[in-house]
Amino acid sequence: MILERILHSQGFGTRRQCRALIESGAVTIDGAIVDDADAAFSPEGLAFTIDGTTWTWREHAYLMLHKPAGFECSRDPQHHASVFSLLPRPLVERDVQCVGRLDQDTTGLLLLSDDGAFIHQNTSPKRKVPKRYRVTTARPIEDAQIEALREGVLLRDEKAPLAALAAEQESAQTLVLTIQEGKYHQVKRMVAATGNHVEALHREAIGALELPTSLEPGQWRWLDTADFEALRPRAQG
Ligand code: URA
Repeated sequence: MILERILHSQGFGTRRQCRALIESGAVTIDGAIVDDADAAFSPEGLAFTIDGTTWTWREHAYLMLHKPAGFECSRDPQHHASVFSLLPRPLVERDVQCVGRLDQDTTGLLLLSDDGAFIHQNTSPKRKVPKRYRVTTARPIEDAQIEALREGVLLRDEKAPLAALAAEQESAQTLVLTIQEGKYHQVKRMVAATGNHVEALHREAIGALELPTSLEPGQWRWLDTADFEALRPRAQG
C-alpha cells in the first residue's frame, strides 16, 4: 500500500493532506525520512513516526480511556468538553466511537473503537456484557436497598423490573453494583428507585476487563491481547 494511503487510513487527514505531510519530510520509517508519498509498504505491523510520535498501522482502533468527570461522550457536547478532546487527532479523524456512553459526571472505564462489529458486540442487549460500577450514595445505604437492587426495581418506561447481577455494600455510602443492560442513566435510576441517590459513579470493569490502576483520569491506551481476552464472552453461571 502506498504511504499516502497508509496515513490516510490511520486518520492523518485527506489523501492530499497526507501526501503533503509526507513530502514535507515529517514521516520517518526505520529511522529514515520517507518523503515519497508513493513509496509502497506492507501496512501490517508497519511503524512510522510523525512529529516524534511513533504509530503502528492498525486496521481498526480499539482503545480504553479513563474517563474523568466533566466530559461528555459526544462529538457535539452540549455543556462540557468532549471525551474526544482527550484523544490524539488521528484517532478522532478515523472516527472512533464510544462503546456505550457514560454520563458526563461518571468516571472510569470507557472503550472506544472504529470497528462497528466490536461496538455492536459490546453494546448489544443480547450479549448481556456485565458492567461493574462503584457507587457513592448521598445517604447511608440500607440493607433493604441492596436487597431491592438484587431483586429488581421497576423503572419508569420499563416493562419489567431491572435486577443487578450483583450488589455488594462496601461502606456506609458505597456499593459495588454490576448490571448487564445499558439503559439510560440505569445505575442512577435504579439507586433512586430504592430511595437513595447517586452522588458519584465510577465504572471499574466491563466483562472481565478492569480499568488498570496505572491509567490516570484522562489517559488512554490501546487494547492489548489480554484485554480482548478479558472482553471475550464467557458462560454465565
Ligand atoms: N448508569 C448511569 O446512571 N450512568 C452512567 O454513566 C452509567 C450507568
